[in-house]
Amino acid sequence: MWEDLKALRQTKRKHNLVALFGADPARAERFTMQACDLRLDISKTHIDDEVLEALTALCDRNGLAERREAMFDGAKINETEGRAALHTALRNFSEEPVLVDGADVMPDVRDSLERMSAFARDVRSGRLRGTGGSFTDVVSIGIGGSDLGPVMATLALAPYHDGPRLHYVSNVDGAHIFDTLKGLDPTRTLVNVASKTFTTSETMTNAHTTRAWMQAGGGDPAQQFMAISSDAARATEFGVPLEHIFGFSDWVGGRFSIWGPIGLPVMLAVGPEHFREFLHGGYQMDSHFRSAPWAENLPALLALVGLWHSRVCGFRSRVVVPYDQRLARLPAYLQQLEMESNGKSVGMDGRPVRGATGAIVWGEPGTNGQHAFFQLLHQGTQAVPCEFLVAARGHEPELAHHHRLLVANCLAQSQALMIGRSLRQARAMAAEAGFTGVEQERQARHRVFPGNRPSITLAYPLLTPGVLGQIVALYEHRVFVEGVILGINSFDQFGVELGKEIATSLGPVLEHGHGDVELDGSTAALIAYLRDEAGK
Ligand code: F6P
Repeated sequence: MWEDLKALRQTKRKHNLVALFGADPARAERFTMQACDLRLDISKTHIDDEVLEALTALCDRNGLAERREAMFDGAKINETEGRAALHTALRNFSEEPVLVDGADVMPDVRDSLERMSAFARDVRSGRLRGTGGSFTDVVSIGIGGSDLGPVMATLALAPYHDGPRLHYVSNVDGAHIFDTLKGLDPTRTLVNVASKTFTTSETMTNAHTTRAWMQAGGGDPAQQFMAISSDAARATEFGVPLEHIFGFSDWVGGRFSIWGPIGLPVMLAVGPEHFREFLHGGYQMDSHFRSAPWAENLPALLALVGLWHSRVCGFRSRVVVPYDQRLARLPAYLQQLEMESNGKSVGMDGRPVRGATGAIVWGEPGTNGQHAFFQLLHQGTQAVPCEFLVAARGHEPELAHHHRLLVANCLAQSQALMIGRSLRQARAMAAEAGFTGVEQERQARHRVFPGNRPSITLAYPLLTPGVLGQIVALYEHRVFVEGVILGINSFDQFGVELGKEIATSLGPVLEHGHGDVELDGSTAALIAYLRDEAGK
């Protein structure tokens, strides 16, 4: 199927985006789709009717509708780990039961949300407190899926914060926990240990350090620690009181876990009602994903455009540029969501996948990125498809002039990538600047922009909790669709294990200079140097 698509692309190699718009005045309208509060414009890519038809055919050919319903229905679609992938149940506002192994999980989901809400209300009202009084700060310790989502959402929803201050610590680098705890009051800080397994070494190391800090400073861990984990026994053993432990099932994957207890820190910051709005946004996107035809289905379209670029056009990465400072951590969040899910090279059938799988995802907020990597996007030798996000309004009406400039920059970039600047135009500019002869030509060539570079734009009215929920669910389903079409399991992550294992065996070598591990020449020399410099 990929060969056919590549052949189709060959027939369109010479197509120019500006010409496509010239040939079809309705292009923008035809290739812009609206769902919930999101408006997705894919018209500034080389997708046309024929390509779209060929791409949407991939959905049916790969049984996407059946796989999608299997996911929502709690089937064990994470086949390598024998688990369901049911994060959608955490935001299921319908009355429909969701069965796992024949049992409806919805009563537990609702109870869990109620428990989280009651706990959040108690913390926010001051009913739950530390030894020194009501909680002023929350330090949430976790990494990967137990950190990236809450960090991203906490920043995104800053205008809704009316709870204690939130701090996140993920890195095992002592600098992270040190800098975070500095200045906090150990008697008025609530500490959350977020770890699905409650074994992740970074998280447990930070948790032990923080417990010692609290004890030394007059706080009481038995009163001021909480945990979010699938392993309540380990959390209890660590000393977290049972009533402060929030569990979740193995059918919630780490990178999809923001919708349940892992999102509790966000709830502490913005309150249960706003958190519910976030969940409802996700539910709205689920409903759209389950009902819209593929050609109007935002997650499917996003996935198909992504596959067109990575698998058919051979573009190696895609850049996500939110023109929304509060989405500054969205690219990092998407890196885990997309790359941990679809960075695979073996198919569901255990055979090697031929061709590219998940693209490399990176990004920074606009306008900052413009002053860093946009040079390469405009004039570099490789095309990098861009994904822009932009809100019609900001939360600060008094700063509307800032927002106008922000939007103008977002639109200017996608336009500049598309229209470029010809050598003729560049020559005229160089002549106007006073250059003549050979120097004029040389200067002109440096000012040429090839243009014809694809981008998509996701626009929304305002970054509310509901809109954020829609955006996150949109990207989750995009990952799922890409995975189904690529024939891979998006829900396991064996690729993170080898490094963890080696790190565990290297710890003693760094400490004592020897251990039960074979070292290659490079690693041995680096260890010798680092031990030496550390005075060991
Ligand atoms: O990086 C691998 C990973 O297993 C992620 O999938 C997960 O989100 C993260 O580590 C944290 O795991 P845990 O929540 O068990 O501490």
